[in-house]
Order: sequence, then structure tokens, then C-alpha cells
Amino acid sequence: MNITDIQNIFTEAEEKISQASDSNELDEIKHFYLGRKGKMAQVIKQIPELPEEKRPLAGKESNIIKGKIQSLLSDRTQQLKTGQEKTQKIDTSLPAVKRTLGGRHPITIVIDDICKIFEHIGFTLVEGPEIETDYYNFKALNIPEGHPARDNFATFYLPKDNMLLRSQTSPVQIRIMKDVEPPLRILSPGKVFRPDNLDASHSFMFHQIEGLVVDKKTNFTHLKASLSYFVKNFFGRDVTMRFRPHYFPFTEPSAEVDIACIICGGEGCSVCSRTGWLEILGAGMVHPNVLKEVGIEESIFQGYAFGLGIERIAMLKYGITDIRMFFNNDMRFLKQFS
Ligand code: DAH
Repeated sequence: MNITDIQNIFTEAEEKISQASDSNELDEIKHFYLGRKGKMAQVIKQIPELPEEKRPLAGKESNIIKGKIQSLLSDRTQQLKTGQEKTQKIDTSLPAVKRTLGGRHPITIVIDDICKIFEHIGFTLVEGPEIETDYYNFKALNIPEGHPARDNFATFYLPKDNMLLRSQTSPVQIRIMKDVEPPLRILSPGKVFRPDNLDASHSFMFHQIEGLVVDKKTNFTHLKASLSYFVKNFFGRDVTMRFRPHYFPFTEPSAEVDIACIICGGEGCSVCSRTGWLEILGAGMVHPNVLKEVGIEESIFQGYAFGLGIERIAMLKYGITDIRMFFNNDMRFLKQFS
């Protein structure tokens, strides 16, 4: 054994390493040359048998060669890794990642559609808080102590300071009338909460849109005209509507508005409970007590207001029979709207 033999081992190893095509092969090569009983170990074992003057050089050379083989092995390992990454990047045979595009939720679509219609006739969008006080949700709206709407079964109360989750969007009326001088013409969409049991037509969270107009010489005719404009633009030119006398504490007179059933055209079917009519919203002239509470002079200004439930309107428009469909996050349902 001499120095040339050691160098030959290196040349041989170098070639094998450069031809190795995966990490298993590299492991085998490593074992073969650098393992405990590998080629280099055998060489080193023979060094003591060399003539004394040759031993230091042979020892030194063996160490250098071991180091070189080791670094060739790690270089090749690295090379194979990045090579694999590169081929992965350009492997056009791999199935493509399917990307699903998000879309607007049907409730958002209906809110936007309704708001657009009212914006055409001068309404401005405003927002109010979902956590309210008893004052804005009830008292200022002329809803007296002991009214059933204040009941624990009708409102979610928070443990502190007379706070609650608003059960209607009407408190936004109060906030705006207190903050902004009339004339006012606002629309306020948002979430409301009521402790109802979840079923096909009830949910503990749903959406409403509140409308409010306060101006000089405002009367019921203006209310009728605005709502009729909305109904014709949203449901269709031929859809008729009617006002039915009703009671709300914050309006006087009050009405509920029905449209002719869009399923049966007014003939009577299961959706309209054979009446031919579908209730879509509540409305009325702002009650004098409410105007007084917010400091608006009722001899100069009058107002009208209305409130509609978005889920109900969306269900009627799209023929959806279960309110829970809106909140189940089922893509098969949601995809139909975007
Ligand atoms: N806040 C009423 C409700 O949740 C809806 C409503 C009725 C709003 C009449 C109004 C209105 O502004 O004038 O049932």
C-alpha cells in the first residue's frame, strides 16, 4: 500500500458519488468508503506496517482523502435535493391545485341590492352598535317597562349595566336623530339577536334593515311611495302590495306591509298560508314621544320609519324554505348565489 493507492481510492469514490442518483445510493457509498470497516479504515489500519518514514505522509493523506470524500458526499446530497425541487416545480403532469374562489354571501347580496334601491332615492347608509343599552333598544323607542319585547325570553341581556344584544335595528334611529340635525334620510343594515329556538323560520341571530326619514311636511304618502318604489324594484314591477293596520310602540299610525304572494300570485298556497299575501316589513310615522325624546320639534318635523327582515326577504325572493341554510356554511348552497 502506498500514497497512489490512497489517491486511487479517492478517484474511484469521486466517480461513484458523481453517478449516485439518490440518497440510498449515497448512504451505501459512505458506508463502503468511510464506514467502520470501510475502505479508508482498512487503509489506515495498514499504515503501521509501512516503513517508518512513509507513515506520517500516509496518515496525513488518508485524513485529507476522508475529508474530501465526506464533502463530496454532502455536496451530492444537496445537489440531488435541489434537483428534485426543481423537477417538482416544472412537473406539469402533477394534478393542479384546485382553488375555489370566494363569493358574497346571499345575505350580503340581498342587503346590497336593497341598499342600492334606497340609495337611488336619497337614503344614506349608517351603522349602529350590536351591543346596545336598554335606553336605545327600548326606552327611547317608547317601549314601556313590562312590554313583552323586554322579556328575558325575547332579548339577550348582558350581565352588566343594562346592556343587551340589540333585538332590532330601530335603536339606530335614536342614535342618528340625537346626533344629526334633520332633514334625515338613512338606512341601517345589521345583525339583530333574539333568544328564539333554531328552526326552519327562526334563528337567534338574523339581519334587519332600518329606514328613517325625518323632514318638514313628511306624511304617510311619502312612506307609501318609498316602500312601493322598493317593492317594485326588488320583487318586480307587477308585484302588488298592501298596508295592514298594526301596532308598534315607536310609530303612530303603524302598519305591516304585505306583498302579493310571489309563489302563487295571490291565489293562496302553503307559503302564504292560503292568504295570498306575504308580510315583508313593519312601518309607520315616527311616534311623537320618540321625537320628543330625541329633541326634535314635532310641529316642524315629522318622520316615517320602516324595518325589514333580510332573511325573510331573501327566502321569499330565492324560494329558500329553511333559514338555517344561510348559516350552515354549505358550499353547495352558497355557491348558487355568487
Ligand atoms: N323594529 C321592528 C321589529 O323588529 C320593525 C319595525 C317596525 C321597524 C316598524 C320600524 C318600524 O322602524 O317603523 O319588529
